[in-house]
Amino acid sequence: MKITKITLGLATITAIFVTGCAIAQKTYSEESLGLRKADIYTEKSTVPDKTDYTKTPAGTSTKIDRAFENAPPMIPHDVEGMLPITIDNNQCIMCHDPAVAASMGAVPVPKTHLIDFRPKTSLSQSGRIEKDGKIIVNTSDLKLPAQKNLGHLAGARFNCSQCHVPQSDTKLVVGNNFKADFREKGEKNSSNLIKNIDEGVK
Ligand code: HEC
Ligand code: HEC
Repeated sequence: MKITKITLGLATITAIFVTGCAIAQKTYSEESLGLRKADIYTEKSTVPDKTDYTKTPAGTSTKIDRAFENAPPMIPHDVEGMLPITIDNNQCIMCHDPAVAASMGAVPVPKTHLIDFRPKTSLSQSGRIEKDGKIIVNTSDLKLPAQKNLGHLAGARFNCSQCHVPQSDTKLVVGNNFKADFREKGEKNSSNLIKNIDEGVK
């Protein structure tokens, strides 16, 4: 009886020991590390997900909720043939200019896009920024011009795709749990930046 007990005890200890060693010795290949599960020393076999933009034409697409308050909205419709925007060809304006937007059923550019927020400067012959003949090292030191509606799109807003982009329908490797706090109703799908643009500044 006694002997059996001891033998059992020994067997248990041996089992624990063996299992312990097995855990300690478990190795991970470099390919199994990281999110893409591929050889991390070469890009050869790495194929990114296909970019898949919406094909729904403008006028029939569904607006995408803002990522956060006054985020530049994503372009919800097809932009085939509209990009890149060039000085002679900006189709976005043909639908989104406030003068025509209503008749095109498009969202007009907001008031912020009709204001020039930049201080008036020019380029010196040496290529430096100057104002009233003086070289300016840091334009942030300059007083900003009064905010006035230009009655047309501000030059700084001409290149829409600098801020507005279509959304690719792609599988997320890591989910995004970010939840935006919108302070006012309606901000999830429209903007009111002009109302609070000086927030925290003035
Ligand atoms: C043929 C007219 C037309 C053209 C051209 C066009 N859009 Fe649109 N756009 C619309 C319409 C209409 C909507 C509203 C959604 C819909 O009905 O498809 C819209 C929606 C948007 C929105 C979303 C607005 C919001 O409040 O969520 C953005 C941003 C946008 N367009 C940007 C652009 C940009 C940038 C270009 C140029 C690359 C462009 N659009 C070209 C008609 C147009
Ligand atoms: C420098 C970045 C920038 C550029 C360039 C720009 N936008 Fe915007 N856009 C924004 C931001 C930020 C907002 C949201 C805050 C606001 O109202 O300004 C916005 C808002 C919008 C909205 C939503 C309006 C609403 O009432 O909800 C439309 C439509 C739009 N932009 C179209 C355009 C088009 C068309 C162009 C090019 C002619 C353009 N934007 C150029 C940053 C930009």
